[in-house]
Amino acid sequence: MADRREKIFREAADTLASRRNAVALTGAGISVESGIPAFRGTQGMWEKYDPMEYATIGAFLSDPEKVWAMLSEMVDVLSRAVPNPAHSGLAEMERMGVLRSVITQNVDGLHQAAGSQRVIEFHGNAWELICLSCWNRYPSREKIREGIPPRCECGTILKPNLVLFGEPIPWSAQEEAESEAQSCSVLLVIGTSAEVSPACHIPRLSKGKGAVIVEINPEETPLTRSVTDLHLREKAGDAVTLLLSSLREIS
Ligand code: APR
Repeated sequence: MADRREKIFREAADTLASRRNAVALTGAGISVESGIPAFRGTQGMWEKYDPMEYATIGAFLSDPEKVWAMLSEMVDVLSRAVPNPAHSGLAEMERMGVLRSVITQNVDGLHQAAGSQRVIEFHGNAWELICLSCWNRYPSREKIREGIPPRCECGTILKPNLVLFGEPIPWSAQEEAESEAQSCSVLLVIGTSAEVSPACHIPRLSKGKGAVIVEINPEETPLTRSVTDLHLREKAGDAVTLLLSSLREIS
């Protein structure tokens, strides 16, 4: 078992080192070790709040105060989180010239906080608020300190600039992510259940262009037996740390 684990890690590190041109696709799992629970699963946000009731654009438009009950809990957790070794390991891989960019479904800003330069935020960012009446934008932290739900100068309740169910992916993020996915030669898929479209289609785009798909997740996902070439069945922090030390040895 230990041999098999070692072999898969060695193969993943060799692939990253020789192909170099890697992109990471990350999901909530990469931030679990930073203290942010994932969405799905027993500790998940969607166990407590039904996303169809609390996380759709329709729900926000009809009852923003109710949706802010969920959002304020989320913002509270996010504001206490700091990057973990998986975030900083990806930033280091970028500095080493192994990783080109990170496409993240997360809205926590932890990749940037860890030092990653090229981050494509597929589902937006929680740290900006937007007014759906006059399109004013505000930094979240300051506005939230004034009270929940935060309001625009025009009186409208503000929405975090993140993608709720039923909202489109920001056009530039969608375009950039597709282009990165189609031109990378390794895709590191870290901590995503791959259940939410369109992000879950990104690995197939990369695979179709010949990329090697390396999945880091302690569990299996719909990708594992269909698209994934190498499954590192570990927590993100451990797996990225190990990959990084192998990469340092090789290069
Ligand atoms: N390291 C790596 N992966 C982990 C860890 C960990 N320490 N802990 C959990 N995971 C894995 C889980 O096994 C699961 O496959 O992370 C995944 C988290 O899945 P989700 O909670 O579904 O998160 P994600 O895939 O990012 O969700 C996609 O759904 O609700 C929406 O907009 C929200 O961006 C989110 C999208």
